[in-house]
Amino acid sequence: MTLRNGRELLAMPGPTNVPDAVLAAMHRPAIDIYAGDLLSTTDVCLSGLRKMFATQHKVYIYAANGHGAWEAALSNVLSRGEQVLVLESGRFAPGWGLMAEALGAEVLTLPGSLRAAVQPDRVEARLREDTKRRIKAILVVQVDTATGVVNDIPAIRAAIDTSGHDALLLVDAIASLCTMPFELDGWGVDVAVTGSQKGLMMSPGLSFCAAGPRALQAHRRADLRTRYWDWTQREGPEHYQKYCGTPPEHLLFGLQKSLELLLSEGLDNVFERHRLLAGAVRRAIEVWSEGGAFEFNILESDQRADSTTTIRMHDGYEASALETFCRDCCGVTLGRGIGDLQGEVFRIAHMGHINAPMILGILGSVELALTALQVPHGAGGVQAAVQWLARSLHQGGYEVTKIRS
Ligand SMILES: Cc1ncc(COP(=O)(O)O)c(C=O)c1O
Repeated sequence: MTLRNGRELLAMPGPTNVPDAVLAAMHRPAIDIYAGDLLSTTDVCLSGLRKMFATQHKVYIYAANGHGAWEAALSNVLSRGEQVLVLESGRFAPGWGLMAEALGAEVLTLPGSLRAAVQPDRVEARLREDTKRRIKAILVVQVDTATGVVNDIPAIRAAIDTSGHDALLLVDAIASLCTMPFELDGWGVDVAVTGSQKGLMMSPGLSFCAAGPRALQAHRRADLRTRYWDWTQREGPEHYQKYCGTPPEHLLFGLQKSLELLLSEGLDNVFERHRLLAGAVRRAIEVWSEGGAFEFNILESDQRADSTTTIRMHDGYEASALETFCRDCCGVTLGRGIGDLQGEVFRIAHMGHINAPMILGILGSVELALTALQVPHGAGGVQAAVQWLARSLHQGGYEVTKIRS
């Protein structure tokens, strides 16, 4: 017996649920790539992306996934043999570091934990050791999708400044952009990357690099540049050059619509929606954890991301059984553990095109799975999520007038 046959939900941290309006925007014939509507679509997308990254500077669009944007960021600002410092807090910054190594950079790592955020004072201390200023770039993620941690980018920037070091700050905002504040210019980030398939509510296939003035200066002397990723090539006079070939038209139509949806909601409202829905997920997990079968992966509550949550199983309880039940019986795809956390955790994403009924449905499905599979858990997780949302919305000015007393 399955209860799956209805609208299915993705509760994995990317790709995420794509709004119907975005899918509809992509459902049209291909158009001229040299003139007409597509040129204004590019302009609208670039202007919307500048708002998402909060920058007045440059944004580049790639027909690629997040790995592509990683390579674009590195190859545009670094030269062979230069050092980069990876700030570890999960799977993705080290993954970016492996790419830097493959490109020819020398990679150093500031070791971290799978259960905590990067500590800014350790960044400062590590940079002070680099008296010869050999480190040219620092790689960090804002949200690590594997561990569910959020790193404090302004605090890391402040630590770099206090150390007096001049390395570029490169931030992976792939699992965070459009789910929480990010400010390239205001925070002094030099390069930021993201992909279309998470907070941007689009299908996978596009990724983006935003570059500030120091990055554009480093770009002039970078010798890892290759033709496809090269920012200068993409600045050429022809529209065609912006994509180094045929523009990914339908993805751009979808992106234009998703940016329009985000901007019409208002970015502050988008962040608040994520904060409240993430809070609801965390309330449910707090209550369920009382059963002793699992706990939050990230130990400190203020280091848990508003875009995705990682739940660590205790010995003897299989995350995969929960994932299978939720998918096959309820039509909800949870995130599985990846990298070193494979088999040890499950993940609930709460990013992108997600609202209260979706989150409550996802939490209800997890509670159903816990009950059906007899995984010990505290009673009333969904109720705790509802209460959190009710309290938060009440504070937001909603109230009911009694019709009859
Ligand atoms: C934080 C982060 N960085 C990088 C990536 C890699 O992106 P992609 O899988 O689109 O190449 C992901 C993918 O989940 C991610 O979550």
